[in-house]
Amino acid sequence: MSIDIRKQLIKALSDADGEFLSGQTLAEKIGCSRTAIWKHIEELRKDGFILEAVRNKGYKIINTPEDLTESDILFGLETERFGRNIHFYESVESTQKVAHQLAHEGAPEGTIVVSEEQRTGRGRLGRSWSSLPKKGVWMSMIVRPVLPPQKAPQFTLITAVAAANAIGEVTGLHPEIKWPNDILINGKKVVGILTELQAEADKISSLVIGIGINANHDVEDLHESIQGKATSLYIEKRKKISRAQLIQTFLKDFEKYYGIYLDKGFAPIKLLWETYAISIGKVITARTVTGEIVGRALGITDEGVLKVEDEHGTIHEVYSADIEL
Ligand code: BTN
Repeated sequence: MSIDIRKQLIKALSDADGEFLSGQTLAEKIGCSRTAIWKHIEELRKDGFILEAVRNKGYKIINTPEDLTESDILFGLETERFGRNIHFYESVESTQKVAHQLAHEGAPEGTIVVSEEQRTGRGRLGRSWSSLPKKGVWMSMIVRPVLPPQKAPQFTLITAVAAANAIGEVTGLHPEIKWPNDILINGKKVVGILTELQAEADKISSLVIGIGINANHDVEDLHESIQGKATSLYIEKRKKISRAQLIQTFLKDFEKYYGIYLDKGFAPIKLLWETYAISIGKVITARTVTGEIVGRALGITDEGVLKVEDEHGTIHEVYSADIEL
């Protein structure tokens, strides 16, 4: 089955805004036979799409499935580049690992890797990331900015702003960001972001940005050891979340903020980030690889680095740490 026809078919049906499209119109639009259209419609149905077919009128999409598929992500996707090239899996070790390999092979900017499950999901600072099947969004994106490697940490903050915004849009909940990359709801972590860099001398060759969103977990799906500090959108909202809608909204927001960043620099992103930030102005403990810094978080620099003032008035610039409030 040609992926290309399938993608174009989903796009045509979604652009039709609930109007019927005949097999003939679809075949002409896509440039294939009516038999091919019919076969692809059957495939979409097998993937859980609900499609209405009426004689003499044609087809229209009624509903997308609850399980996540590549088609769900494409149906209704509003971006130009991000998410247009999807590598979708039922189970992988880590979407980061797959995305690094694709980046190495030259995959274009905007490529995403999504899996229903990760067997060995990776967290920051060498930790593992629990990624139960069908419960969350486990996704990595390839970004190729023409910038020096020092700019990479800013992308964690762009991603955090896009994720916080998308969660607000989709659920109506009010997420907050804990520097640099944790998104919390009611004080508990719901999203983790992992930015990994491949660089040549003085320029970024690719960034692989991993995002994990706990979407439809029940309390018992979260390991006992983290129940006090982690949550899911479902636990907070008491309503199942469409993971496809969450991915689409996140990709739309990320593409928008990335565009703003390329056009106008980091300043507007920093402003947005600060509207979500909870650590700023508070006394925090920053655990870095070289030790602990206790002090007031003053804000972030234009590079996205956290400034902490200790009790002696010394200002520390923190590049990577675990923050305790
Ligand atoms: C953190 O420690 O807070 C970062 C967690 C990042 C998890 C995501 S899930 C998709 C991608 N693949 C991984 O193995 N990790 C990231």
